[in-house]
Amino acid sequence: MNVRIHYGSQTGNTQELAERIFFYLTKHSVKTSLVPIVEADFNDDTVQLFILCISTTGVGETPADSKSFWRMIMKKDFSIRQIPKVKAIVFAMGDSSYKEYNWVGKQLARRLETLGAELVVPTVLCDERHELGFDYGADKGIQSLRDYLISNDSGNFDVRLPFTPRHSLAIADSSIAPNELNAENQSAENCFIGRVVFNKRATSEDHFQETRHLRFTLPDGIHYSAGDVLNIKPRNPPNLVKVAIDALPWDVNLTVAWKEDASLPLSLPMTIEKILESEVDLVGIPKRSFFQILAEYSSDKMEKDRLLEFSEGTDDRWDYANRPRRTLAEALRDFPKSVSDLPIEALLDIFPLIRPRPYSICCHSREYAEILCAIVDYKSRMDTPRVGLCSAYIRQLEDGDVVELSISRGTFNLVRNAEYIMIGPGTGIAPFRSVYQDRISNVRSLLFFGCRAKDKDLYFGDTFSKLTRLNAFSRDSTCKKQYVQEIIKENSQLVFEKIMRGCIILIAGKSKDMPDGVKNAIKMVIAKSANMTGEQANAFLSMLQDQGKT
Ligand SMILES: Cc1cc2nc3c(=O)[nH]c(=O)nc-3n(C[C@H](O)[C@H](O)[C@H](O)COP(=O)(O)OP(=O)(O)OC[C@H]3O[C@@H](n4cnc5c(N)ncnc54)[C@H](O)[C@@H]3O)c2cc1C
Ligand SMILES: Cc1cc2nc3c(=O)[nH]c(=O)nc-3n(C[C@H](O)[C@H](O)[C@H](O)COP(=O)(O)O)c2cc1C
Repeated sequence: MNVRIHYGSQTGNTQELAERIFFYLTKHSVKTSLVPIVEADFNDDTVQLFILCISTTGVGETPADSKSFWRMIMKKDFSIRQIPKVKAIVFAMGDSSYKEYNWVGKQLARRLETLGAELVVPTVLCDERHELGFDYGADKGIQSLRDYLISNDSGNFDVRLPFTPRHSLAIADSSIAPNELNAENQSAENCFIGRVVFNKRATSEDHFQETRHLRFTLPDGIHYSAGDVLNIKPRNPPNLVKVAIDALPWDVNLTVAWKEDASLPLSLPMTIEKILESEVDLVGIPKRSFFQILAEYSSDKMEKDRLLEFSEGTDDRWDYANRPRRTLAEALRDFPKSVSDLPIEALLDIFPLIRPRPYSICCHSREYAEILCAIVDYKSRMDTPRVGLCSAYIRQLEDGDVVELSISRGTFNLVRNAEYIMIGPGTGIAPFRSVYQDRISNVRSLLFFGCRAKDKDLYFGDTFSKLTRLNAFSRDSTCKKQYVQEIIKENSQLVFEKIMRGCIILIAGKSKDMPDGVKNAIKMVIAKSANMTGEQANAFLSMLQDQGKT
């Protein structure tokens, strides 16, 4: 059987799932290829089974890397192979706390069926919100895939092949100069180098949440629009780099290069030390593939058994890795004998590449971009506090430091000089400062902001003077305790008048429950002011959505 796996992924989870399926199938001697979804060709008659892995992002939207694929398959005249019928399985990746749960995967499955494909296994729904993570749904899907292959691949399936590294690395000739980060070197597509102009604390010193306000220079020719995001490529914290270097058996001063064509967006040659510092993620939680691959190389019976336990079951791995939020670097320390068996070729199989993190741009300028970053820092069962990879990196940046950046387009529907209701609690206010400074919102616009207290985390308190800003403080002893939803309802007449005048409603923020809470508040405002039932208000809000007003 010839299987082709396609993936479309915004932040890397679905790609990781696709790699896991690839690893599983190749281990079981199934001829498998792994290709981005934009390269899908459903007329290729050499492929007997297509596995399509795709996530849902935005508000029920396709990931950025899958837009052209989506446009292609949704075209009226798009057709796929009919003889023999295309056989497919869809792995949908999403989060059940979103209203449009796994919308893209479900739509893709529906579309393929309409086009005449046979879905040989029901659409596999992977839920990031599940207490065992998306692995829970993925495990079940892989089990169904296995059952299908056993009954359809003429008995070949259970022949297990020895593991071969997926990414072919080799020690490079020491005369080859390693790549270094400098102002001229653009390491990835669309990536550019910016310098830190300032990095200051945006919350009061005594507030538990540290948030930083940063400005980066932009090189000539790099521009953004209001609502766009700045992607920041972080580097690992030095203490974890040291943990990894101490645990790994390699001379980290050696330079490695691709043996064949690059199979990852990583510009080599580079020293192993530099790869550990700035290219592979040492802060993330070890996933199943980490234990699987380490077990493949391990010659120590006890460690190998434990690694296999973690790579097969889910509960033990959850207790060991996810619950305490153990990092990949720390996990290396717990399997010293197996780690000492790791060849350099395994480097990029065992560690995922660092993913740049998006931050809403909070200013308007042709020379610089600013962001507001909430630092992720919390405690777990582990001795040392847990940190977020990118925010920990951002926290320690100093004026003049160089940073790898890129810009992605935002998803707001913006009309210049229009009237807006902008709702952005916490760092959700960031894109609205950009909208305001670019004079996209006119003076009749409204901004709803929410934070804990006036003297703790009231971001950009002196901005937005040319529109109406209403703040909700949830823990301020000097005023009524409120959330944004409540001040929206409190100002229902004003909000309703603006909605009736056709203003555009924009919502931004981190909390997953907030957009639903805000939508409910707006629904209640409409129902109350227009004397509608809940259902009628719902229909009215959906109509606004269809008209691009929210
Ligand atoms: C379109 C978009 C725009 C964004 N804009 C902004 C912005 O303007 N400002 C901003 O600050 N962020 C913004 N973010 C979020 C940002 O991209 C990062 O996800 C965030 O900074 C965390 O990244 P990190 O690398 O520091 O943490 P990571 O290393 O990615 O770790 C984050 C993970 O840590 C875990 N975690 C965090 N806190 C806890 C806890 N208390 N207990 C247990 N586990 C915990 C969670 O699983 C979380 O997913 C935006 C995200 C998107 C998608
Ligand atoms: C900004 C944003 C919007 C999202 N919107 C949805 C959504 O509408 N429906 C859904 O099921 N999941 C949604 N998710 C959850 C993602 O699908 C989930 O995080 C998934 O693991 C991402 O996979 P990827 O890294 O391959 O893109 C969203 C996540 C983010 C960060």
